[in-house]
Amino acid sequence: MGFLLFLLFLLANSASGKRTTYIIHMDKSFMPKAFTSHEQWHSSVLETAMLKDTAGESSTKPTRLLYSYDNAFHGFSAVISEDELQVLEKLPGFVSAYADKMVTLDTTHTFEFLGLNPESGLWPASHYGEDVIVGVIDTGVWPESRSYKDDGMTEIPSRWKGICEPGQEFNASMCNNKLIGVRYFNKGVKAANPNITISMNSGRDTQGHGTHTSSTIGGNYVEGASFFGYATGTARGVAPRARLAMYKVIFDEGLFASDVLAGMDQAVADGVDVISISMGFDNVPLYEDPIAIASFGAMEKGVLVSASAGNAGVTPGILHNGIPWLLTTAAGSIDRVLSGKLTLGNGQVITGWSMYPVSALVNEFPLIYNESISSCNSTSLSSFNYGIIICENGHFLDQINTIAESSAPAAIYISDDPRIFQREEFAYPGVVISPEDGAAVISYAKSGANPVASISFQQTFVRSTPAPVVATYTSRGPSPSYQGILKPDIMAPGSLVLASWIPNSYTVSIYPDIGLSSEFAMVSGTSMACPHSSGIAALLKGAHPEWSPAAIRSAMITSAINIDNTNSPIKDSGLNYSIATPLAMGAGLVNPNFALNPGLIYDATPQDYINLLCAMKFTHKQILTITRSSTYTCQNASSDLNYPSFIALYTNETTATLSQKFVRTVTNVGNGPANYSINMVVPSNTNISVYPSRLSFSSKYEKLSYTLTVEYNGNKTGEVVFGSITWVDVIGLHAVTSPIVVAPMIHTW
Ligand SMILES: *[C@@H]1O[C@H](CO)[C@@H](O)[C@H](O)[C@H]1NC(C)=O
Ligand SMILES: *[C@@H]1O[C@H](CO)[C@@H](O)[C@H](O)[C@H]1NC(C)=O
Ligand SMILES: *[C@@H]1O[C@H](CO)[C@@H](O)[C@H](O)[C@H]1NC(C)=O
Ligand SMILES: *[C@@H]1O[C@H](CO)[C@@H](O)[C@H](O)[C@H]1NC(C)=O
Ligand SMILES: *[C@@H]1O[C@H](CO)[C@@H](O)[C@H](O)[C@H]1NC(C)=O
Ligand SMILES: *[C@@H]1O[C@H](CO)[C@@H](O)[C@H](O)[C@H]1NC(C)=O
Ligand SMILES: *[C@@H]1O[C@H](CO)[C@@H](O)[C@H](O)[C@H]1NC(C)=O
Ligand SMILES: *[C@@H]1O[C@H](CO)[C@@H](O)[C@H](O)[C@H]1NC(C)=O
Ligand SMILES: *[C@@H]1O[C@H](CO)[C@@H](O)[C@H](O)[C@H]1NC(C)=O
Ligand SMILES: *[C@@H]1O[C@H](CO)[C@@H](O)[C@H](O)[C@H]1NC(C)=O
Repeated sequence: MGFLLFLLFLLANSASGKRTTYIIHMDKSFMPKAFTSHEQWHSSVLETAMLKDTAGESSTKPTRLLYSYDNAFHGFSAVISEDELQVLEKLPGFVSAYADKMVTLDTTHTFEFLGLNPESGLWPASHYGEDVIVGVIDTGVWPESRSYKDDGMTEIPSRWKGICEPGQEFNASMCNNKLIGVRYFNKGVKAANPNITISMNSGRDTQGHGTHTSSTIGGNYVEGASFFGYATGTARGVAPRARLAMYKVIFDEGLFASDVLAGMDQAVADGVDVISISMGFDNVPLYEDPIAIASFGAMEKGVLVSASAGNAGVTPGILHNGIPWLLTTAAGSIDRVLSGKLTLGNGQVITGWSMYPVSALVNEFPLIYNESISSCNSTSLSSFNYGIIICENGHFLDQINTIAESSAPAAIYISDDPRIFQREEFAYPGVVISPEDGAAVISYAKSGANPVASISFQQTFVRSTPAPVVATYTSRGPSPSYQGILKPDIMAPGSLVLASWIPNSYTVSIYPDIGLSSEFAMVSGTSMACPHSSGIAALLKGAHPEWSPAAIRSAMITSAINIDNTNSPIKDSGLNYSIATPLAMGAGLVNPNFALNPGLIYDATPQDYINLLCAMKFTHKQILTITRSSTYTCQNASSDLNYPSFIALYTNETTATLSQKFVRTVTNVGNGPANYSINMVVPSNTNISVYPSRLSFSSKYEKLSYTLTVEYNGNKTGEVVFGSITWVDVIGLHAVTSPIVVAPMIHTW
């Protein structure tokens, strides 16, 4: 299912006469007055290029224009040859063009884990996100899902301009006051393969991913939700009263940048407040990343874009969506254990991990421990078809497959491999226990007195410790597309998140090849973490409609927590439970109730991002591709964006002390005058100085600036050091924390 594995369709095309889909950025200020619409201009530009085509095969085919974009950015996508592109490049208004590319895709309890509750804090303050509209760019929806029922929802806000687009197995009456819009975009898929038949030509979800992400953001209350008896409770989205609009851009037949752009462009035009996008483009510079380009336009219109960091794991510098003007979310665990109860013949009861989805009868079977086969990788297991086998020192997935192939009724796996607790399937009866418990079980099994054991399934325990931990799979910073801004921004629950699924596909399978389906599925990935951030951003927008996207992001970053539920620093399960760095989790676990009243915010305007772009080593056209307006000015180029976190980078050639100065401006959003003083957690081998060290605000919305200097003198051979500064309101109401990290610069394209 929707974790890590997505088919990659590759564009095979190089011959100059052969046509392929290009995304073409245009400067609208060149549009001649004679044209009444941007579509007219784009068609005319395209026609000019086609008529002048020397390859001679181009009769005018209007279908070669796929999309005309005008909201999140300006331009069009079209199926053209390289010769035609060369003509286009010389026409007035042309900015840049690149070939269409593929995108990588990457609950009953998570809201409690995040502290959301009806009595106080962000839920009541935002009216649960009522009247905030979240646009979800994904695989579509299963409109009949109970998460999209509109019980208790008021009328759709009149500013909404979206539609409920009919299509295959989908009619316009399937939207309601919860699911307020559905559209689908697949011209890019069709252009890449003209003979293709779209198997579900509508907004209906055939993969489950979009149903899961959108119900996580804003699903309505659903009683009696569970995953085969695990994690039972009332399911609801993070913002249970927010409105959802789905923009389906991913089809079983492919997923293309031109369609993603069309979806984001339309979402902005329709009037969404937040865009949630759980997918990303790998190894692309900002000016060729459709999500970076479309989210710049969205940001200018006040729309916050929330995106996933990717599932590429612990290698430094491979996260995607590390884009300075959007919110990037990493994934962590929650404090829920799905358990099997192991009862030994001597009366000892041990709680282990199991997701085996049916209530199998594993009662008083002989317990078998044989050191010569306990790695459970040998076919000689088949002679033990009468008992529960103890497995140790091996890879869980190999072991469970071997056990399933044998005729043993069940197994006990001794392991603390964190990847086990992120897996979405458990195909054969068994339970995973810790090495400490394993020692007791082995000692009993060796005791000689006909040892027996029983296992019962479908139990859930919450409040396990430590939680959260950083997920093994979450992609790590620094951001390869711009290393100077710390990414990811924050972490949210991503492992085994329970939310709605499509009912006509298997959510899990059990041995041998029995597929089971369920109204809900537990799925792991940054795709599941991102919707939590999107939902919280929607709640914040509801509570503070006047806040800019940067202000919402700032509130989420400066209130995040970097300690776990045992009061220790959050650990990284991908790096042997060492203390997690900001390159793995940003500022830490998102903390919605504290984000509601952050005290101070680090705001940024569209011009601030332009100043940042100007400081990157981009050409005029590359910048123009992102800003879309040739009226931008690089008068005040600055790589020092007013961001609520700090990253200082060294290269292994840096011999002198690394010294970097940052200037920040904070806005007082507390109620009235306030005095703040500074607290610091200084990274090792580093000096931090902050000036001034006290900020006195005499009124709400007053802005004050400070300077922070990082001096690092470590050995510069790959060491990552980190700490933080916190502005503390002297009367104790607010603590505004910014992470600081010093890290080696990574080598990128
Ligand atoms: C839309 O589909 C629903 C469910 O299949 C059906 O009950 C309804 O009559 C359809 N409406 C229209 C206008 O076709
Ligand atoms: C499309 O289908 C036609 C007719 O079946 C075939 O001749 C052509 O090669 C196909 N094109 C591609 C790109 O598969
Ligand atoms: C342990 O397993 C080996 C290999 O299958 C077998 O030869 C041996 O008899 C087993 N030992 C016991 C005590 O069952
Ligand atoms: C099984 O595991 C043992 C212990 O880890 C190892 O020595 C042996 O090579 C493995 N055998 C196979 C077939 O993988
Ligand atoms: C992980 O940490 C434990 C305890 O600190 C240590 O014993 C073990 O060798 C480490 N493993 C790796 C792969 O670093
Ligand atoms: C550049 O900075 C100066 C001084 O702060 C300011 O007056 C000017 O308006 C800025 N220009 C732009 C384009 O932001
Ligand atoms: C710096 O790192 C690069 C790439 O890893 C390596 O080739 C080079 O030798 C290193 N330089 C020093 C001074 O360590
Ligand atoms: C802030 O500090 C100043 C100077 O110490 C003091 O006059 C003022 O009353 C303080 N304001 C608040 C809100 O505490
Ligand atoms: C930090 O400051 C102290 C005292 O000024 C100085 O001795 C030390 O070298 C500085 N360390 C770094 C890393 O700059
Ligand atoms: C660099 O610093 C780290 C941490 O301070 C230390 O563990 C490591 O051994 C040092 N490496 C060298 C080559 O000095």
